[in-house]
Amino acid sequence: MDRKDSHLTLCLTAPVELGAGDASGFGGLRFEHDALPEVDRAAVTTETELLGKRLAAPLVVGAMTGGTPRAGELNQRLAKAAEACGVGFALGSQRRMLEDPSTRATFAVREVAPGLRLLFGNVGAVQLNYGVGAAEVRRLVEAVGCDAFNFHLNPLQEAIQPEGDTRFAGLVARLREVAPAVGVPVLLKEVGAGISRATALKIRELPVAGVETAGVGGTSWARIESLRTADPVQRSTGELFARWGIPTAESVATCRAVLPDRVVIASGGIRNGIEAAKALALGADAVALALPLLKAAERSTEEAVLALRRVIEELRTAMFVTGCRTVPELRLRPLVRARDLTAQEPA
Ligand SMILES: Cc1cc2nc3c(=O)[nH]c(=O)nc-3n(C[C@H](O)[C@H](O)[C@H](O)COP(=O)(O)O)c2cc1C
Repeated sequence: MDRKDSHLTLCLTAPVELGAGDASGFGGLRFEHDALPEVDRAAVTTETELLGKRLAAPLVVGAMTGGTPRAGELNQRLAKAAEACGVGFALGSQRRMLEDPSTRATFAVREVAPGLRLLFGNVGAVQLNYGVGAAEVRRLVEAVGCDAFNFHLNPLQEAIQPEGDTRFAGLVARLREVAPAVGVPVLLKEVGAGISRATALKIRELPVAGVETAGVGGTSWARIESLRTADPVQRSTGELFARWGIPTAESVATCRAVLPDRVVIASGGIRNGIEAAKALALGADAVALALPLLKAAERSTEEAVLALRRVIEELRTAMFVTGCRTVPELRLRPLVRARDLTAQEPA
């Protein structure tokens, strides 16, 4: 089976998510509930600006797919849902378009969702070490009319993938050279192992607009590739590394601290509007969700719209009960560590 389709099948049928707010680090954090919020619920607005585009909420449909007819159909449904809800949409890796230009239609979501407010293109950064240069990336940008471009950083995934591209040496220099020539703002994103402080410090020296954390807590690409390989050693290595990396909450706080002036998109296991609100309070500019939206889109466009509306409604409710009228106010709200009161010593 085609690699993209085998990824889709595994993501839709196998236990590829780490699950529970604890792996992502959000479970241990909570807001102070405000029983006197001094704001009318009707006045709460989730509207925000991201990369110069106005969004109805600080949300992005995370990068997933494209390249096969099945992937194309899912992209169309997800893009229509993002358009209907006024949020951003990220394409999956466009590498296939470089090898086979006839796959362009499976990525050409502007044709079915012309009102899409913010569209991200995508290719693996490591491809810059396998013959892809600025001219090829510009072609990918122009072919789909995207507003920003994600280079994904996935050394762990490539290490477990049977056919993985693992020549990562010299990539920082390649990114320094190529990023300014892409023609739209560039972001660097992980795919589920997170951006650490050491990585963020290297990214700080690069001419890029920002990062997407894709931390530990949600979809595990080490696990997915482990399930795909026939080699028993690769398989057990992938499973061992299934939880390897930086939990999303930690990655968001670290990226915000190291990259104070860049865009930080939080992702990796964010599953509801409370976790989205926590990620924003930790300093994220926006939040991306991938797998839950894929599962919804597999059912229908309407289900994808409902899934997005649910997250927006939950975010709005979290804002109301913390007394925040706007997203910038939410980003200033402190989070407290959840305490186990039963474990307290008597006075
Ligand atoms: C089916 C599927 C395909 C994906 N393909 C890509 C991809 O091509 N490029 C990329 O940058 N990330 C890809 N991702 C990673 C997501 O963008 C995201 O970083 C990761 O899944 C963590 O988010 P989640 O826990 O909400 O799923 C994919 C995720 C899924 C579920």
